Amino acid sequence: MLHILFLFSLILSSSSISNAADFCVADLMAAEGPAGFPCKAAAKVTADDFVYTALAKSGNTTNIISAAVSPAFVAQFPGVNGLGISIARLDLAPGGVIPFHTHPGASELLLCLHGHILAGFVSSANKVYIKKVGKGEIMVFPQGLLHFQVNAGKNSATAFVSFSSPDPGLQILDYALFGNDLPSKLVETVTFLDDAQVKKLKGVLGGTG
Ligand SMILES: *[C@@H]1O[C@H](CO)[C@@H](O)[C@H](O)[C@H]1NC(C)=O
Repeated sequence: MLHILFLFSLILSSSSISNAADFCVADLMAAEGPAGFPCKAAAKVTADDFVYTALAKSGNTTNIISAAVSPAFVAQFPGVNGLGISIARLDLAPGGVIPFHTHPGASELLLCLHGHILAGFVSSANKVYIKKVGKGEIMVFPQGLLHFQVNAGKNSATAFVSFSSPDPGLQILDYALFGNDLPSKLVETVTFLDDAQVKKLKGVLGGTG
């Protein structure tokens, strides 16, 4: 009997401990550390902190890539703080492209909602893995690897992409190379591209130098 009581009290106390750490809704006013944001006071947390409605609408695809990425990372959706997950919506108009990019902090799982998407990634051994996915089909992109998504149909395509981190990060290769002030001469040296190509891409992508 005593044993059972002891066990019962153990279970009670351990469950109250886990309750205290059920969630840690981000306090976005505070600085983000390596483990995420500090928690918003539990008494101030409401159901709204766990809901994000902005992905119900398609993103604006009137841009150079004819595509839109709408993130629900911790910065937009504080409820995912500390939970190891997040999500984004991809909208691809006809001809739309999500250019080569990497998420340094997360693997990615793409679920195609409608249309057809040609997606691929390149491994550290520089092997290419490409596949066309359609409605209801999924594809996974391992953490940190460069990958892309292209609309492979005549109509628009939509996908949701989930991530194994609330803050996956996003680095787009074209912008890293041509969208900043890295001097053109140096870009040419490290990419083996010629001056005209580099100047043209810097012009298109907003780079200087
Ligand atoms: C979409 O973006 C374009 C270019 O920035 C802008 O002109 C247009 O008004 C936007 N459309 C909507 C519906 O916001």
